[in-house]
Amino acid sequence: MVVEEQATSPFTMSTLDKKEGVAFMNLSEKRIVVTGGAGFLGKHVVNQLYARQCEHVFIPRSRDFDLRKEIDIKHMLQAFKPEIIIHLAAVVGGIGANQKNPGKFFYDNLIMGTQLMEQARLFGVEKFVAIGTICSYPKFAAVPFREDDLWSGYPEETNAPYGMAKKMMLVQSQAYREQYGLNSIYLLPVNLYGPHDNFDLETSHVIPAIIRKCVEAKKRKEKEIVLWGTGNVTREFIYVEDAAQAIILATGSYDGADPINIGSGEETTIRQLAETIQTLCDYDGDIVWDSNKPDGQPRRQLDTQRAKAAFSFEASTPLAAGLQKTIAWYCRHAGDDEVKSP
Ligand SMILES: NC(=O)c1ccc[n+]([C@@H]2O[C@H](COP(=O)([O-])OP(=O)(O)OC[C@H]3O[C@@H](n4cnc5c(N)ncnc54)[C@H](OP(=O)(O)O)[C@@H]3O)[C@@H](O)[C@H]2O)c1
Repeated sequence: MVVEEQATSPFTMSTLDKKEGVAFMNLSEKRIVVTGGAGFLGKHVVNQLYARQCEHVFIPRSRDFDLRKEIDIKHMLQAFKPEIIIHLAAVVGGIGANQKNPGKFFYDNLIMGTQLMEQARLFGVEKFVAIGTICSYPKFAAVPFREDDLWSGYPEETNAPYGMAKKMMLVQSQAYREQYGLNSIYLLPVNLYGPHDNFDLETSHVIPAIIRKCVEAKKRKEKEIVLWGTGNVTREFIYVEDAAQAIILATGSYDGADPINIGSGEETTIRQLAETIQTLCDYDGDIVWDSNKPDGQPRRQLDTQRAKAAFSFEASTPLAAGLQKTIAWYCRHAGDDEVKSP
């Protein structure tokens, strides 16, 4: 069994503590398990916990603890004795991966969340932070998506099994708060992007896929790249470091039953996004839209007022600036095992 615990971080205290009007739990003394802490979002959450002097951060890897299995969850809780669980572990992917794996995405995410929250309650954790997804919103929710509209319809078909499985953690979280007094909160991040994203074209989300296609096409002097869909749908994205900051702020200072959106509030069409990435990558070929491939949900943009009111969170990285950092990271790491195709 691998027990991952880090020594005191060399980083200084984050400016998060300076936010006014927010009573903040002292996380540095807490034993914190970050499930999925070695994943894309997880790496950034864990780094920011270290930056806040958190000395007792544990990352249960799936090879040691398969969180779909109750017995492994029990062993994990005994090994790390967490006071706080930030549950990021999930099986995730873009439209293609969701279409290929609706059963797996439903079962794995549902069973991990349900069993982990139940065992966390029985173990007596102080706080459970459940991470949901914008894919839980109804296909035709009014834009911008408000948390109160979460139940006003069924999600877009290509990601409904994933979105519904993750949404059950909201029901469980509210039920456990009511019956057992569990301090469980539920956050819904919009689409993430940034360093350490998944750049495997089989499973990636839209931003890493477009970056990789542009960078590789430029290198090979190819005249065009082909992208999925029409390019006419809209999306909102949040830079992963901003999302990690929101999760830590909420962990430290939000104790409520209401779900909370985590977004940037910046809506863009996929076409505009692709053209921005193309420019930033300095690729002068054509973009061809394959309209036989699905577009996914027609529009996505979040109302982010609740996060601002509840724990003073506002995203600070504009899309173009975040894309620039992500492209620079990808170009530096394109040869690494982490970003190579399997
Ligand atoms: N990426 C996005 O755009 C986005 C948007 C909204 C919400 N979210 C949510 O944010 C969270 C993190 O997403 P991500 O993009 O960072 O995903 P990711 O990079 O794929 O990381 C997910 C992690 O989950 C762990 N995991 C998967 N199955 C497991 C199992 N059976 N037992 C134990 N651990 C398991 C893996 O751990 P190992 O490395 O140890 O195998 C992996 O590192 C997820 O809850 C996701 O739903 C993501």
